Amino acid sequence: MDELRIRGGHRLQGTVSVSGAKNAALPIMAATLAIPGRTILHNFPRLRDTNSMIQLLTQFGVAVEFLDDHTIALESSAVSTCRADYELVRTMRASVCVLGPLLASQGEACVSLPGGCNIGHRPIDLHLKGLSALGAEIVIDQGYIHASARELRGAEIYLSGPQGSTVTGTCNVMSAAVLSRGRTIIQAAACEPEVIDLGNFLNACGAQITGLGTSTLTIDGVRELQAVEYTIIPDRIEAATWMMAAGITDGDLTIEGVRDDHLTAAIETLRTAGLAIDLQDETARVRRAGDLQPLDVVALPFPGFPTDLQAQLTAMMCLASGTSVVTDRVFPDRFLHAAELLRMGAKIRRESSGVIIEGVNELSGACVMASDLRASAALVLAGLAARGETVISRIYHLDRGYEDLAGKLSRLDADVERQKGGRPNTPQFAGAPTPSASKTSSKG
Ligand code: UD1
Repeated sequence: MDELRIRGGHRLQGTVSVSGAKNAALPIMAATLAIPGRTILHNFPRLRDTNSMIQLLTQFGVAVEFLDDHTIALESSAVSTCRADYELVRTMRASVCVLGPLLASQGEACVSLPGGCNIGHRPIDLHLKGLSALGAEIVIDQGYIHASARELRGAEIYLSGPQGSTVTGTCNVMSAAVLSRGRTIIQAAACEPEVIDLGNFLNACGAQITGLGTSTLTIDGVRELQAVEYTIIPDRIEAATWMMAAGITDGDLTIEGVRDDHLTAAIETLRTAGLAIDLQDETARVRRAGDLQPLDVVALPFPGFPTDLQAQLTAMMCLASGTSVVTDRVFPDRFLHAAELLRMGAKIRRESSGVIIEGVNELSGACVMASDLRASAALVLAGLAARGETVISRIYHLDRGYEDLAGKLSRLDADVERQKGGRPNTPQFAGAPTPSASKTSSKG
């Protein structure tokens, strides 16, 4: 299994480009199941998760072709099966995003229930509630969701649960509603930029969705959608991870592909933490303005501070000059990284749905284990700042959401090496050409 070796203590410097947003690419790819013709997606992120979605779509009969490293064509005219097996769904929960598009276009879908998750309890009851409201009959049998509908009809749907709105649930219901007869109104819709990007994509294909970016979506069903060319938004989580990489290493990074309108809460929080962030067009220059300052932060649905940045912020606060409180109201149990950070000399205590972090003067390198995607990013940040060597195992989690992370870090003067069986290697994704920029370089 691959691991990442980081010899910490180097200030990151240089320019880094943010890849396309994983969480926008996945539901957009799934939506092409309901769009006859050839969809072309630009700024396509080359990730383990997008590769899993390619495998899933290929199984359904979608023809997939890379036009260049970051442009993909998806031709969905010959969809032949509607079944998503456990083997793929368990590796990527977002596979559930195929449910709505399959129901709308094929009248049926059979998708494995995703099962457990390292970041906490993740039910999909709201997805099913929304699709049922549109007229789907849903049966759960032997670990699979069997959904069918002769015709989907518009409905009024309230899509909130105990933790608020649901991102992929909104994507699923929206993707089905665009082809339902009549008007659908989704209340308590998720407002995340990735949901807006899916909505903008569907509208470009001929859908009629209004209210994107607000909690009320109004969707007037259309008879069919047409394939288009579309450019995926940059990944706001990757962008803010780079900001924190500059902060934790006392570096100086120029980050290209920063949508500040997608990052208002993150930028505000990081400035309060002592980072100087200069924004111009879609580029941010990030340095430290002084010592890292402690914070009291709560992760919330958009436009709040994102739960997908909570682990990285926790890592950065380990080196702040004082005591921080980080709470997660979206996934209250998403703190597996805390135990690994303790092994690197952090002072962290779990409390209710959060952690209390007492800043220390330095972290020390250690062997640590990645437990999920963002927890892995937190360990990378800690390793970059730590004294000595950090070895992060199970980095396939990182590959799910960060394109060529080791390569990008090396080009910013980090001392990192990706290793497999003691030898450096590059991740290979089945069915896709290796991007020219994804060679994993090593330093030191
Ligand atoms: C998406 C993102 C993930 C991010 C999360 C929250 C993708 C592919 N993944 O995940 O990176 O961390 O949003 O911003 O876009 N819930 C229910 N019932 C449901 C669905 C969700 O109770 O049917 C709860 C969840 O347990 C959680 C909260 O709602 O507490 C938000 O989850 P949700 O927005 O659905 O997360 P995902 O869409 O799975």
